[in-house]
Amino acid sequence: MFTLVCVTAFVSNMHLSGLLVEYVDLKTSLVLLVVFLLLVDYLQNRKPSNYPPGPMPLPFFGNLFNIDSKQPHIYLTKLADVYGSVFSLRLGRTQTVFVNGYKLVKEALVGQADNFADRPFSPLNDRIYSGDGGLFFSNGSKWRKHRRFILTTLKNFGMGKSSLEDAIGQECYCLQREMETQKGQAFDPRALLTSAVSNIICQLVFGRRYDYADDTFQKMLVLLTEAIHLEGTVWGEMYDAFPSIMKHLPGRHNDIFSNYGHICDFIKEDLDRHKQNHDPSDPRDYMDTYLTEMNKGSGDSADGFDEVGLVLNCLDLFAAGTETSSTTLQWALIALMKYPHVQEKVQAEIDSVVGQSRQPSMADRASMPYTDAVIHEVQRMGNIVPLNGLHMAERDTTLGGYFIPKGTAVMPMLTSVLFDETEWETPHEFNPGHFLDAEGKFRRRDAFMPFSAGKRVCLGEQLARMELFLFFVALLQKFSFSTEEGAELSLEEGCVGITHTPHPFKIYAHLR
Ligand code: HEM
Repeated sequence: MFTLVCVTAFVSNMHLSGLLVEYVDLKTSLVLLVVFLLLVDYLQNRKPSNYPPGPMPLPFFGNLFNIDSKQPHIYLTKLADVYGSVFSLRLGRTQTVFVNGYKLVKEALVGQADNFADRPFSPLNDRIYSGDGGLFFSNGSKWRKHRRFILTTLKNFGMGKSSLEDAIGQECYCLQREMETQKGQAFDPRALLTSAVSNIICQLVFGRRYDYADDTFQKMLVLLTEAIHLEGTVWGEMYDAFPSIMKHLPGRHNDIFSNYGHICDFIKEDLDRHKQNHDPSDPRDYMDTYLTEMNKGSGDSADGFDEVGLVLNCLDLFAAGTETSSTTLQWALIALMKYPHVQEKVQAEIDSVVGQSRQPSMADRASMPYTDAVIHEVQRMGNIVPLNGLHMAERDTTLGGYFIPKGTAVMPMLTSVLFDETEWETPHEFNPGHFLDAEGKFRRRDAFMPFSAGKRVCLGEQLARMELFLFFVALLQKFSFSTEEGAELSLEEGCVGITHTPHPFKIYAHLR
């Protein structure tokens, strides 16, 4: 805005001094304009005193092109070695402060929970969510009401309860059966794992599961994975930095909007199905419960209990509930194939506690410390959400001795916690011992923070933990996994978007 006012003043000034303009050639005018814009850019981006340090930004673009778009979390971790645990970057016009290391991330998310609970404005998400914010990107009373409503509703439909265990157990059975049809041939397990995990959130939200061969469902899962990846790449960053230019340009950022658009259409079709036979006295799922809440008409429209809010809430749950747990299971298979002795030890524990004839249950977890430790270590090394959700300073505050003004975007870096050298004995090694005490009992670790912490902590943590344990145990109860001869397996190098996912890989699932 300031730029616009100044440019207008500049241009009209030039009109007023028409005589002068006659003598100034085009080249000089351009040089003057550039100097003027540089000055505006400098004035707009001046940092307050005691602001966190960071690399020198370029005019207009800031540090946008500094970031290694393939492995941003590694680049950002290296910057912490140079500038310290709290440093800043300018991404286009947005100042972002990066917080590193367990102690400071915990201080930001838990110690100063009220200061950093909000999310900043993002043009990309504003367009995806048509200005609504859904759950993930809303703030204030709307966010609080929706978060409470979602948590209560998902609990009522079994999140964290044994009733949901049965549904997961049945899905485990479908997944096992599908893997059996591969008849010992090498196959890429990613689509199967994603379908199985997604079916759990689909049952909670839409009240139904989809066949793995359902073309529409498969298409939605592909669109979702692609959109989540693109959001975290340079396409998403460029759109956030220069929305008014990028929206007119061709490029992969456009796929983000069209992919989410198709998924919203898919959700709307389900909404129509729900509206046709909605019975408030007999809610079948999250959608039914939301419809009842919406029809009460008690909430003011600012709270978003309307159809747009319903579709966007479902989008958030479908996206967050599908991609993350499925990616974790993919990393788990890679870890088991890379470390066959770990696989054998887990299977021995499963055989002695669960056996081969019954389905595993959450009650078994307490008697399976090694398996539990392996799942935790997979989550730590897999580093599924390597940056985190973006937070924002709600008021002027200080962190790590630096001043952070109200409205600054703040990224509490999860990579820096999960690999914190002061917290983990062997941070870069796959070591289930991180979660075992001297007697082999499971031990919790404070720096185990893949779900983040504080007020915005992952809303699906309980559900994800249940899914991971039950799917992981059911798979190893039935199969032994190995990969193709000569295939390189890495737990640290994957594709990074919003999530950190393994490169394509193939497995053999041998019946035990
Ligand atoms: C292994 C699996 C999962 C991991 C690692 C994970 C991780 C995360 C992380 C890091 C955040 C951002 C927290 C922050 O900004 O501080 C988050 C937020 C969220 N997650 Fe998960 N998540 C997982 C599974 C799930 C599942 C199954 C659901 C489905 C219910 C879910 C729903 C959400 C929602 C709705 C939010 C936004 C919360 C808010 O803004 O209030 N997540 N998750």
